Amino acid sequence: MNDAPGPTLCVVVPCYRERPNVAPMIASLDVALAGIDWEVMFVDDDSPDGTADEVRRIALTDRRVRCLRRVGRRGLSSAVIEGALATSAEFVAVIDGDLQHDESRLPLMLDAVRGGADLAVGSRHVGDGDAAGLASPLRERLSATGIRLARMLARAPINDPMSGFFLMRRATFEALTPRLNGQGFKILLDLMLAARAPLRVVEIPYRFRPRQAGESKLDILVLVQFAGLLIDRALGGVVPLRFLAFALVGAFGMAVNLLVTLILRRAGVHFATAQTIGTIVAMIGNFEMNNRLTYRTIRLRGGAYWRGLVLFMLVCGLGAVANIGIARALYRGDTAGLAASAVGSAIGVVWNYAVSATLVWRA
Ligand code: GDD
Ligand code: MN
Repeated sequence: MNDAPGPTLCVVVPCYRERPNVAPMIASLDVALAGIDWEVMFVDDDSPDGTADEVRRIALTDRRVRCLRRVGRRGLSSAVIEGALATSAEFVAVIDGDLQHDESRLPLMLDAVRGGADLAVGSRHVGDGDAAGLASPLRERLSATGIRLARMLARAPINDPMSGFFLMRRATFEALTPRLNGQGFKILLDLMLAARAPLRVVEIPYRFRPRQAGESKLDILVLVQFAGLLIDRALGGVVPLRFLAFALVGAFGMAVNLLVTLILRRAGVHFATAQTIGTIVAMIGNFEMNNRLTYRTIRLRGGAYWRGLVLFMLVCGLGAVANIGIARALYRGDTAGLAASAVGSAIGVVWNYAVSATLVWRA
């Protein structure tokens, strides 16, 4: 029996623009979970289609239905984490809000964890499981490559490490939470990589259904974040991922700066002027890229965008001055000039990162 304070099972449903899927989702959970004391936690990131309103409309007459609405943030993984932390249920399941996962497998998954598994995963790649719902051949290829990489890194044998459909004890989830990366789409993989000892995994096959309503939110940035998650874990989580992204953007900016300066020089512009314009163009480009990529989840908009841009340019301007200063101080004619400027650049990028992370984006 259930002697924990909350319901036995909380089904966490991350959703963004899933309004038409909310009512069918609840109806199918009602059928699938008959005989289990359950609740459902929709975690909505302020969808413009009014997904949260739809959840609340149903919650008025059904106390098992809960709504966690987040404003000003986006992200499947972080939505799942916050949903799982907001319940008191003994077990937590995660399922997509677009009806692509098969909720009828949930009781089997619950039995598996009750029977001693740390994690029950709905898998498209075991037994009669099937990935028919993947939209295109390209997606299938990307998915296959990702799976291979993820299997290499995951600390337990798992056929479908990219699944977003799983169940575990809330206590297990909470114990792993402090070590989660929390970005992107792959919360299951994130959890597995965060475990200090390999988790006992049971995979339950299911058929991935095609989407009926709405559209997939998987885009190129989500793939970049996935690569980031893997790099982060491969490095043992020591180097902050944001720093890597920031440094990469910085390197790109240096190339832009050089290119613009060269083009202007060719056009006969004076060296100092060409260099100044090159620097400004690179700074604006870097700010835009960092805002869209490095700090995607806390992206600056409206007034905050302009304030951030001005601050960023001031910070990086100072960084550039310091950078040249350090390089000059180290360069005594006898030391290698390249080493001196490398040290200068390294200190410059750390400075830019440290100050923009605290002042510009306030991560
Ligand atoms: N709160 C919130 N915030 N929810 C989101 C966000 C977000 O930024 N982005 C996506 N979601 C929700 C969607 O509304 C949907 O319910 C679920 O997360 C999955 O998003 P989809 O856009 O439908 O992803 P998919 O179909 O490409 O892939 C999903 O299924 C795969 C198969 O199991 C993902 O869950 C994958 O992780 C999973 O492997
Ligand atoms: Mn989907």
